[in-house]
Amino acid sequence: MSFIKEQENYLKDVLKELNYELPNVLILPSNRRELGDYQLNIAMSLAKKYHKSPIYIANEIVNKIDDRFINVNVANPGFINFSFKEEKVLEYLNEVLKDFNRLVDKHPTKKVFLDYGGANAAKALHVGHMRSPNIGEAMKRLAKLLGDETISDVHLGDLGRQAGMLISELKLREPDLPFFDENFKGEYPKLTYTPADLGELYVSANIKANEDEERMQEVRDITAEIDKGNKRYLELWKQLVNISIVSIKEVYEKLNCHFDLWEGELDSFKDVPKMLEILKPYLHESNGALVMDVKEETDTKEMPPLIVIKKDGATIYATRDLATIYSRVKRFNPDEIWYFTDNRQSLYFEQVFRASYKAGLVPYNCNLLHFGFGTINGSDGKPFKTRDGGVMELKTLIEQISDMIRPKIKEDIENKEEVCEKLTIATLKFADLMSFRNTDYIFEPLKFSSFDGKTGPYILYTVVRLKSLLKKSGLKEFKITQVPNQKVSAIFLKVLELPQVLERSYNDKSLNYITDFLFELASLFNKFYNNHHILTESADIKNTYLGMCKLVYNIMHELLDVLAISEVDRM
Ligand code: ARG
Repeated sequence: MSFIKEQENYLKDVLKELNYELPNVLILPSNRRELGDYQLNIAMSLAKKYHKSPIYIANEIVNKIDDRFINVNVANPGFINFSFKEEKVLEYLNEVLKDFNRLVDKHPTKKVFLDYGGANAAKALHVGHMRSPNIGEAMKRLAKLLGDETISDVHLGDLGRQAGMLISELKLREPDLPFFDENFKGEYPKLTYTPADLGELYVSANIKANEDEERMQEVRDITAEIDKGNKRYLELWKQLVNISIVSIKEVYEKLNCHFDLWEGELDSFKDVPKMLEILKPYLHESNGALVMDVKEETDTKEMPPLIVIKKDGATIYATRDLATIYSRVKRFNPDEIWYFTDNRQSLYFEQVFRASYKAGLVPYNCNLLHFGFGTINGSDGKPFKTRDGGVMELKTLIEQISDMIRPKIKEDIENKEEVCEKLTIATLKFADLMSFRNTDYIFEPLKFSSFDGKTGPYILYTVVRLKSLLKKSGLKEFKITQVPNQKVSAIFLKVLELPQVLERSYNDKSLNYITDFLFELASLFNKFYNNHHILTESADIKNTYLGMCKLVYNIMHELLDVLAISEVDRM
C-alpha cells in the first residue's frame, strides 16, 4: 500500500475515534504550498453531515493526530494544511527504491476482458486506427499493475465488403483459380500474394465497384455468400485474411501491442445460431429485418431498435458482436468487458449492451463498458489527412515521423535505425495518450517529435540522461538519507502523488494523467540536473542525489512500460 493511502487509512481511524465517518478521506497536494505540502478538506464534508462548524471539526482532528504530521495549521473555512515528518517520507522512499509496488494501491482483482485494436482485414491501418491499440494496450497494462487479471482480443474485422471486393477482383484477374470452380474436388492451392498485393487489389476493385453498379452488386453477392458459409469463398477469403494479418501484426508489433487472442468476426459465426436462439423471444420483424427493441422508458435520447439480422437474412456487425459477447462470457466469465473504439460507435455499443442484458446473453454482474475516444485531426480541425487530402496510412505517418527524427539522432550511435524507430513510436504514443481519451486532438508532427517540451522524445531523453548518470556513478546500492534542498523536495512530493495518478487514469480509462505526471517529473528532474553537479558533491549528498536519480529512473521505467513505450540507451 502507498504511503499516502496508509495515512488516509490512519485518518479514517482518527475520525472513528471522534465518532465521525466518511467514505472517502483524500489527502491532496496543497494548492498553497506556503501553508504546507498537503491539504485535507474533510472538515467541510463532515460539517455538512454532522451539522457542526468546519473550523470546530478541523481543530478536533488536528488535536487528535500524531506527530507524523508536522506544521499543521487550520485555514478558513476549515482546511487543514500540513506536511509529513521527513523521517517517515524518507523511510518510505527507500522502500520504493527496493520495490516499485510500494507506490501502487492494488484493488480487489477483477477479470477484465479487453477488446481493442479492431483492425479490418485486407484494409490498411490508417492514422485513426492508432488510438484503439494505444489506449487499449496501456489500459491493459495499467489494469494488470493495479491487480486485475486481463484477457485481450484484437477482434479483427474479417468480414465485410472488403471480402467481396477482393474476391470479385481475383475472379476477374484469375478466373481459373479452383476457388471459382463449383465442381472442384481436390485440395485448394496456397496463395502466394503479399499484403501489398491485396492492397492493390482492393484499391482497384473499390474504384471499379464505385463506378459500376453491376460490379457493386457482385461484391455484395459475394460478401453475402461468405456470410452464408459458401465453402469455396470462405476458404479463399480465410487465406486472404491470413495474408493481411501479417502486415497488421507488423504494425501492432511496432506499437508494442500484444493480444492474447487474435479472434475476429468470422470466429463468431459458430455462436450465431445459439445466440439467436436466446434472442428469439425478443426479436420482431421490421421491414423484413429482424430487430430488437432496446428503448427504455427513462431514455431522453433517440434509441432506435437494434437490427440483428438483415432483410436478406445476412448477419451484420451487431450480430457478430452479440455472438462474440455470448462466447466470451461462456468461455471466460469476465467481470467486465472493455471496448475501445471511436466515439462514433457509442450509440451502437449501448444498443448491443442493452440487447445483451435484456435477452440474458450476459448476466447483470458482468459489466459491459464502451470507452470511446476522439478523432485525430490535422491543423484544419478535420481528420488527419495526406497532403493531397487522402486518408493517411498509419505506416506513412510512422515513416514521416521517422524522417523528422533521424537527422536529430547522434551520428556515432550504432543501432541508429532501431533508436529512430523507438523514438518514432514514443512520439506517436505519447502524443496520442496525452490528450484526454474522449476529446479530439490535433496531431502536430513537428511539435510532437521535438526533443524538448511535452513529448515522448523528451521523456526518453531524460531517461537516457538518468541511465548514463547512474552508470557513471558505479553505485549498486541506493539510499536516500536526507532532503538536501527545495528542488529535491519537489521531486519527492511529486513521487508521492503517483498512486492517485494511477487511480485516476484507471477510473477514467484515460492515460493523460500518467503522461502529465511523467512530464512533470522529468521537468523537475531536469531543473535539478541543470543546477547541480551531482558527481562532485560530498559523499553524503552525492549518495542521496543518486538515490533520488535511481528513484526517478525506476518510476519512469515502470510508467513507460505501462504506456508501452520502449526506452533507448542513447539518442
Ligand atoms: N473493426 C471495427 C471498426 O473498424 C472495430 C471493432 C471493435 N470491436 C468490436 N467488438 N466491435 O470499426
